Amino acid sequence: MNTFHKLCVPGLLAAVALCSIAQQSSTEIKHEAAPATSAASGSEMYKSYCAACHGKDGKGDGPAATALKSAPSDLTTLAKRNNGKYPGPRVASILRGQETLAAHGDQEMPVWGPVFHAMSGGHEDIVTLRISNMNKYLESLQAK
Ligand code: HEC
Repeated sequence: MNTFHKLCVPGLLAAVALCSIAQQSSTEIKHEAAPATSAASGSEMYKSYCAACHGKDGKGDGPAATALKSAPSDLTTLAKRNNGKYPGPRVASILRGQETLAAHGDQEMPVWGPVFHAMSGGHEDIVTLRISNMNKYLESLQAK
């Protein structure tokens, strides 16, 4: 375990994401715990937890994207790539870490279930609310 990990592990939350980026690149990345957000605001959660990789508009072009081995998906084409239907349950299980992605082995796409769980004081109904509002927000970003 190097210093890097020692610093990152207690940072937990969003730091998990940032650490995996920092390990692949020489760019200095600031480590911060995931900021608290309102469970009621999908857009606030998206900006705080997803935009660094997936881009502010969800197109996969966030500032951290170039430091990753696998490109963050374009989240505006989720519906298009699923016969026009936004795949809410699939996204929910990806966020919870119940569904594995190709890049998951490298942990480039962080698993958010435990993060949301911790910041919701362990209340499962709040975790569900976060994921549901995240889904509503992502659905609103879908390309027509
Ligand atoms: C550290 C960078 C990073 C962060 C932060 C991140 N993702 Fe990802 N995400 C990725 C990468 C890389 C992939 C592609 C994984 C693959 O294809 O194997 C991905 C894939 C996905 C997918 C699958 C898309 C598809 O086309 O099937 C979804 C859904 C997703 N992310 C949603 C989110 C949401 C919602 C958040 C915020 C809560 C988030 N991601 C935060 C890097 C990130």
